[in-house]
Amino acid sequence: MCLSLVFLLVSLTVARAGFLYGQPCSERNTAYLYSTTWTIPENREINCVDVTGFRNPNLMNYLEFFRLASAAHTLYADHMNLTSFPVSMVFSLPGLETLDLSGNHIRRLPYRMYKIAPSVSKLMVAENRLFVPKKRPLFVSNTVKMLMLSKNKIGHVYPVTFKRMPNLEVLYLDSNAIKCISADIFKPLAGLKYLHLGLNQIQDFPAQSLMPPQLRHYITKDQRRIKVEPFCEA
Ligand SMILES: *[C@@H]1O[C@H](CO)[C@@H](O)[C@H](O)[C@H]1NC(C)=O
Repeated sequence: MCLSLVFLLVSLTVARAGFLYGQPCSERNTAYLYSTTWTIPENREINCVDVTGFRNPNLMNYLEFFRLASAAHTLYADHMNLTSFPVSMVFSLPGLETLDLSGNHIRRLPYRMYKIAPSVSKLMVAENRLFVPKKRPLFVSNTVKMLMLSKNKIGHVYPVTFKRMPNLEVLYLDSNAIKCISADIFKPLAGLKYLHLGLNQIQDFPAQSLMPPQLRHYITKDQRRIKVEPFCEA
């Protein structure tokens, strides 16, 4: 009993000092935006924002909500049928570190990601329809450490694709339609530790010795066989 009282006092002190920042998302620290209303935590310590129940495209009516939530570190905007990257929503939450946009129909990511999401470190864009440009990087960001691009029907990635994400450590490219991979694609990623290339159509993988030196998890399993051998440029 004594112990639990001490624990309670400590929790209260911590909560009052605002040290809840960095806590995992739960109902107690999440603000929810719905189509005609919103809810915010009683103590107004908003760490996370969930807009998955929001259907109204006119954000201007909800400026107050985003002002209240402006210190949030996590945004859930997954499985909403979004057809474009929610630029103004993301821009209005400058402290975002985790951004979940999985399960939408997004085709293009903002090239200047560092301006739209200046603190983002985990970017989840699995199950979308992302277009990967041939001539320029997918986007520019010094803060992104984890990028999830699984299940996007991606056919090609290029040596320029990840060139402007120098701090990327974890990259998911699994469950796409990639046929050709070269070590050049990953050369700009000096700190890459985890690379998932499973469930593609790749026949030849670069040897681990050609890959970034810190790569510990290099996952290549379950490639689909294709009828015609691809012609992969060296
Ligand atoms: C997304 O679109 C599909 C197909 O039109 C629909 O069945 C589904 O309910 C939509 N989901 C949301 C969250 O709007």
